Amino acid sequence: MDIRFQQAPSSDWRANTVIVFGFKDEQLLDHIPALADAVPWITITPARHDFRGEKNQVVVMYGHPDIPLPRCIAVGLGERAKFTLETLRHAVATAMQKCRELKVDTCAVPLEVFKDMEPKDTVLVEETVLAMLLSLYTYDELKTTQDEPAHSPRWAALLSTEENFPDAIHAAARRGEAAAIGVMATRNLVNGPANIVTPSHLVETAEAMGRKYGFAVRAINGPDLAAMGMGAFESVFKGAEEQAKLLVMEYAPKGTEKDAPIVFVGKGVTFDTGGISLKPSASMHEMKCDMAGAGAVIGLFEALGNSDIQRRVVGIAPCTENMPDGRATRPGDVVKTLSGKTVEVINTDAEGRLILCDALTWAQQEYSPAALIDLATLTGACVVALGTEVAAVFATDETLSKQIQDTGVRVGDKFWPMPLWDMFFEPLKSEVADMMNVGGREGGAINAALFLKQFINEGVRWAHLDIAGPAYKSKKSPLAVPGGTGFAVRTMLEIVRNGISE
Ligand code: BES
Ligand code: ZN
Ligand code: ZN
Repeated sequence: MDIRFQQAPSSDWRANTVIVFGFKDEQLLDHIPALADAVPWITITPARHDFRGEKNQVVVMYGHPDIPLPRCIAVGLGERAKFTLETLRHAVATAMQKCRELKVDTCAVPLEVFKDMEPKDTVLVEETVLAMLLSLYTYDELKTTQDEPAHSPRWAALLSTEENFPDAIHAAARRGEAAAIGVMATRNLVNGPANIVTPSHLVETAEAMGRKYGFAVRAINGPDLAAMGMGAFESVFKGAEEQAKLLVMEYAPKGTEKDAPIVFVGKGVTFDTGGISLKPSASMHEMKCDMAGAGAVIGLFEALGNSDIQRRVVGIAPCTENMPDGRATRPGDVVKTLSGKTVEVINTDAEGRLILCDALTWAQQEYSPAALIDLATLTGACVVALGTEVAAVFATDETLSKQIQDTGVRVGDKFWPMPLWDMFFEPLKSEVADMMNVGGREGGAINAALFLKQFINEGVRWAHLDIAGPAYKSKKSPLAVPGGTGFAVRTMLEIVRNGISE
């Protein structure tokens, strides 16, 4: 669906359906006088009286089919005092589902609907465009016998009566679109099955983006990683036939090349069987989602490619399968990490921390990050602790942690802080090596974070995001069909846009 702009006297607005939003116990038309000009029939249609503005209430109103704006979908926002951006995103999603159901050909939102709302209209436009695109997302590239593909309107327009369509609104709409494109790129990668989305596929996807948008992409292959000393990463990819890769992307617009970059590191386990510590089979198919961290970092770069952000960003993704095999790592094996520290691999299913520790060490050797942020579907324990809506943030830096939480709340990614106290390293102490890769079951998400912390140099501003819960959902939500959600893409994008807080 294209996003368009119409700037004309309201009598010249054209679309098959106009979408409006209204608060509870308020007159729908009070805040949008131009709408009554554009669609005079709306002032007399009896259906208007059905609209009470309750949250996500939908009323469809019809004028004569031959007039330029023959249909109006009104969606309720609930009480004005309780309005949040999440309310708006859900209302937009509700409107788009109605458009899908009614097979609406073209739709439009008058900018006037945002006039008397808080926050300002640019923010609301950005969220509206994003929610329109995300709520129509489906993953059906692999279906060949669908009766009917899901319908989407051909375009959605923003309607303005101003002489010049405000530049700030244009830019806001493009920001929403860029973010949605990034989120959808991540969803496609997470939803793609592991026989298609291999480490090589992740690299090829990133390379295609690099060519399209003009940023640098490279990849280091498994044998070279082993030769470089990444013994922990190697211990995971040893059992896999698929070639492991360390994917490295660098976005550095002119003039920023020498800046300290923000570095994101995403876990890219394209399938996690557990290795020799094999997982039970019941939900194993869902472990195609174990590359959602890498997928989010790649999605971020897709969004950056569609933006005019002037900041240096590096994206790193250790990518491999975790497979049982004659060459696979045995529980009890001791491996040497790139940092020189040794790890006793007690459980080969705790593989994420093994690939991440080497990637994090390498990131600090190669770059001097302004901030180092890793994202990983790291532990089931985190899902037990926080559920499927919320990710954990562990950080060596309060300001960074707070920035991630605050940004996340605004864009719809919920993060909650967890401790990085040293006492959580106790259960990881090994008799034969510097540490084990697992502690007990208790505090599992925190133990994993403490494991990673052993590889972070003093003074580095580091945050670890355990996204195992919200990265992949088996139930549908207003903005997402079941499957990959694209969680954290928007948070990263906004952090890059605003820069790391001092
Ligand atoms: N990829 C899993 C974690 C996971 C669980 C992601 C559920 C998404 C949904 C990870 O590699 C893993 O298997 N972790 C183990 C660690 C344990 C062996 C210490 C876990 O959480 O059970
Ligand atoms: Zn695992
Ligand atoms: Zn895993």
